[in-house]
Amino acid sequence: MGLMEGETVDIFLDTANLDEIKRWLEYGLLDGVTTNPTVMLKDGGYDMEERAREIARLVGPRPVSVEVTTDDPAQMLQQAHRIASWSPNIVVKIPVVTERGQPCLGVVRDLELAGVRVNMTACLSFGQAILGAKAGATYVSIFAGRVADEGHDAAALIREVIDWLGRWGSRTRVIAGSIREAVNIKDAAVAGAHVITVPPAFLEKFVDHRYSRDTVRGFNEDAARALARMEELQAIAVRAGGEARR
Ligand code: E4P
Repeated sequence: MGLMEGETVDIFLDTANLDEIKRWLEYGLLDGVTTNPTVMLKDGGYDMEERAREIARLVGPRPVSVEVTTDDPAQMLQQAHRIASWSPNIVVKIPVVTERGQPCLGVVRDLELAGVRVNMTACLSFGQAILGAKAGATYVSIFAGRVADEGHDAAALIREVIDWLGRWGSRTRVIAGSIREAVNIKDAAVAGAHVITVPPAFLEKFVDHRYSRDTVRGFNEDAARALARMEELQAIAVRAGGEARR
C-alpha cells in the first residue's frame, strides 16, 4: 500500500555516526536510523552492540535497523533474537539471500511470527521485495543505487513494488536505500517509497543550495544597509532638532 492521505514519507538516517544522528534529530525530521556492518565499520561502531544500543537510546521510540553478521540462516535466527533484545525499537536486518543464494525468507517469517520486526535487506529486484512482503517483513529495503549500478530503473522498481503491495493490502513498508545522489531522494519519494534512508551527507546536500545562500546574504546585506540608513536619518533628525532649538 502506498502512502495514505496525510501521510508523509519517512526519513531515516543511514548512519552509525552519533553526532549526525543527534544533529538531525534536533531538526525534528528524523523518523528512524538504518545501519549495516559496512556503515558500522565506517562510523567507528566496531562494538556493534554498544553502538546499536546507543543509537536506539538516542532515537527511541523510532526504529533502528541493525543487521545480522552471519551467513548461516540458523545462526541468523539466534543472532536476530539477541540483537532484538538490546532495545524494543531495534528492527533486525535479514538479507534476502545468503552469499550462496539461499533464501532467508524462513528466517524473516519465523522472526516476525515471534514478534521481532524485520527489515529484509539487500533487495535488488521486484521478486525479492514482493516475497519479503509475503514472508511478513515489516520493511523491505530496495537498494536503489545498486539497482541503478546494474543498469536498471530504481524508481520504476520502487513504483511497481508499491503498486503490488497496495493491491494486496500488504502492510510491509518499502525503504529506499543505497542513496548515491541527492536527486535519488526525490526520485524515491516521487516513486512512492514509504521510507527513504539517507546518508547524512546527502541530506545536507538536499537542504543546501548555493543560490539560497546568496539570496539570504543579499537580504542580510540589505537589512544592514536599511539599519545604517535609519541611523543616519535619526542622526540628521537629532541634528536638525538641535539647530532649530538654537
Ligand atoms: C540501508 O539500509 C542500506 O544498508 C544502505 O543504504 C546500503 O547502501 P550502499 O548500497 O551504499 O551500501
